[in-house]
Order: sequence, then structure tokens, then C-alpha cells
Amino acid sequence: MALWGGRFAKSAAESVRNFTESISYDRRLYKHDIQGSQAHARMLAEAGIIPAASAEAICAELDRIRERIEKGDFTFSSELEDIHMHIESALIEKLGDEGARVHTARSRNDQVNLDIRLYLRDEILAIADAIRSLQKALVEQAQKNKRTILPGFTHLQHAQPVLMAHHLLAYAEMFERDIGRLLDARKRLNVLPLGSGAIAGTTLPIDREFVRKALDFPAMSRNSMDAVASRDFTCEVLAALSIFAMNISRLSEDLILWMSQEFSFMVFSDAFCTGSSLMPQKKNPDIAEISRGKTGRIYGSLMSILTICKGLPLTYNRDLQEDKEGLFDAIDTVHGILSVYPEMIRTMTVFPDRMLQAASDPGLMATDLAEELVRKGVPFRHAHHKVGSLVRFAAEHGKKLNEVTLEEMKSVFPEADEEMLKLFSPERAVEKRDVFGATGYRQVEQQLEFWNRHLAEKPEV
Ligand code: ARG
Repeated sequence: MALWGGRFAKSAAESVRNFTESISYDRRLYKHDIQGSQAHARMLAEAGIIPAASAEAICAELDRIRERIEKGDFTFSSELEDIHMHIESALIEKLGDEGARVHTARSRNDQVNLDIRLYLRDEILAIADAIRSLQKALVEQAQKNKRTILPGFTHLQHAQPVLMAHHLLAYAEMFERDIGRLLDARKRLNVLPLGSGAIAGTTLPIDREFVRKALDFPAMSRNSMDAVASRDFTCEVLAALSIFAMNISRLSEDLILWMSQEFSFMVFSDAFCTGSSLMPQKKNPDIAEISRGKTGRIYGSLMSILTICKGLPLTYNRDLQEDKEGLFDAIDTVHGILSVYPEMIRTMTVFPDRMLQAASDPGLMATDLAEELVRKGVPFRHAHHKVGSLVRFAAEHGKKLNEVTLEEMKSVFPEADEEMLKLFSPERAVEKRDVFGATGYRQVEQQLEFWNRHLAEKPEV
């Protein structure tokens, strides 16, 4: 009979148990469930609600249950709905009446909420750490390519030459904000919900402050109804993970393009590619592709939790049991991506000659020519027009921009001079972009210094 079996004449049908169970996935909360129960039991004894000896027995037995679970020496079954029931039943089985005191002044509604918060508190730090490893790999590759020039793209058309380091460090920036969003969500979820009971608190004289300190929460929930009903913290974490996945997906797309035969800018190490079962010549960027693909399921989990919560009246509704699978899946997926990505970035082979060649089209320096005219006092809009005319002139004469002679240039705009003929080098184009945040060598060197310093520091939580 279930722990709540008192008012029921029959036990639930097997099909019902199978349909309503969450033990198949919430068992991963066991450690946090035990941590919460131990703090709760100690508090009950401190407050004189249960005997001190019972609390001691409960805490010691919970330690043993944890060990049993970790050794694989604990039976999980859909007879008992969830991890909370499993652990409480095991406690009662060993301790009898003493174990039957642990759930005093507590509901699974505040208990499950506590467990998810404790779990996410740990997971977020682990993910932030893993994202930092990815940033380190990007910075390492950027360091090696701080003089490698490739075409920067807008509209996936060649735009202006940029340093490969600059391109890679753009992703380091995005991932920094991802870490920021996760840590920010962590601050908001780092609140003790236990003590809210099923919905309205308890008539017993519990000491929530004791539990808050024991579990190291900076704050406790002010409203018991909010505490048991809300999963906006799960939404926030999934939103942050979705944005991270979006960023990973964009990086993946860049790398997949770069490795295509048309680009041939780089290639992943054999250890990070797979072949085709049919075409012997193939070497595919599957890790980047799978990561791009997995973004879909992370978005799916976000959509799922938002939809689960949207029509729910206060407070706890069983729908909320559906909060966990998507969350766990998203966390596992992100860990999966981060278990391969840093090494894949570290071990890729870059082809700087190929990149430079692609960036050497003199058309990419057309803006530089317009800016040169600005230096001579020409208003930018006019300068833009004049260079546009030169581009047309060159095209009509079957020439590249750097093949136009001084006389020809002068025929299009009289401000033309010798110096302007030297603008068509991608190295110069990079070198001259020396404003803060730009792709210039000096600027990128400073970015690298920032990242090396920043990633050596201990992250602030
Ligand atoms: N298994 C449930 C969940 O994951 C625990 C809370 C159940 N509470 C209830 N009153 N049935 O949400």
C-alpha cells in the first residue's frame, strides 16, 4: 500500500502506477532529497517536534540509504511513485515509528521543489565550469591564430577581412553571457521553499531559519503558495540553456561551413569526425552537426515547461511532475555537447593560406578606400558613391579593384592618389582597424590578454 494509502480501499491499478510514476527519472534527485531530509529531521528535533534520538536515527539511516543507492544495492520499483516515497519507505522499513516521523510538517510539494533547487544549484556550477573549458579551448585556438586572416561575412557574403582570433573570441563573448545568465538564474532559485507544506505552511512550530542555514540558502520563500506552485526557475534555467544551445549551434554552423570543400578553411581531427557507410572518401563534421541538431530538443524542453505551467491554477498540480524530464534531458544534452566540444576545437587544423586567399579579393577593401576619401574631407555618403562607381568601372573593364591604374581612378574621382593603390591588402585592412573592439592586431592582442586573465581567475558565483 502506498504511503498515502489510509483513505483508499484499493491500491492503484498497475496501469495507473505506471502512468503516474516519476521514479524512473526523479531517482537522480536522491542525494539532494536525502540532504533535505536530514536538515529537516534535525530541525524537527531542535524545535522539539520529534525526539532528538529519532532525528539521529533518521539521519544515520539516510546516510546508509545513500550508500545503498550508490552501490546499486537499492530496489527501485513503480510500486512507489517517486524518489521521495522510495526513501521514506526505506526509512520506515528500517526504523519503524522513528522513520515515520520524517515527513512531519512537510509535503512532497515543498520537498520536490527543494530537491530540484538543490540539484540545479549544483548543476549550474558544473555547467558553468564546462562552458569555461570551452572558452579556454577557443582562446587557445585564437592565440594560435592571432595573425590568421579570413574573410568576415555578412549575409554569408565576403564583407571585410578579420582575424580568425577575432571570430573565435566572438563566441567566447557569447558563452560568457551564457554563464552569466545561468549564474543569474541560480541566484534567483537559491531560495529555501521547505516549510511551505502542501500549500499553506504548518500548524507545527518549525524553524525554517534553521533549515535555511543548514542547507546554505541565502534566503527563504516568503509565500508558501508561490513556493509550491512555481517553476519559473526551471523556465529560466531552460531559457538560459536554450540560448547557450543557440550559440553552440551557430558556432557549429560556422565550423561546418569552414570544413566544407567550398571553404576548406579548416578540418577537424580524425578523432572528432565520422565517415560514411557508403562513400569511402567522406569525413564529416558530425559532432558539430549533432550539437546543432540537439539544440532542437533543448528548445523543446523550454517549450514544454512553459506550456505545462501556463494554464495552471495555484498551487501544486500534478502536471508539475512533468517539469523534470525535459530539464534533466536538457542538462544531460548540454553536458554531452560540452564533453566533446572543447577538445574538438583544440585539435582542429586551420589552413591559414586558404583563408588569406579568400580574404584577398580587393573588393573586401572597398570600405577602406571610402574611408581614405573621408580622410581627404569627402563626406562619407559621397565617398561611398565614388567607390561604388569605381567598383562598377572596374567590373565594366574586366579588372579587379587593385588592377585599376591611378589615372583610371582619377577619372572616377579626382581625390585619388598613389597611397590609395596600396589599400588592397587584407593585412593592412586588419592592421588599420585599431579602435576598441575592432579586429586590428593590437586590439585582438588586448582581447586575448583579457581572456587569459579572466579565465585564470576563479569564477564569481
Ligand atoms: N512525484 C511528484 C512530482 O514529481 C512529487 C509531488 C507529488 N505531490 C502530490 N501531491 N502528489 O511532482
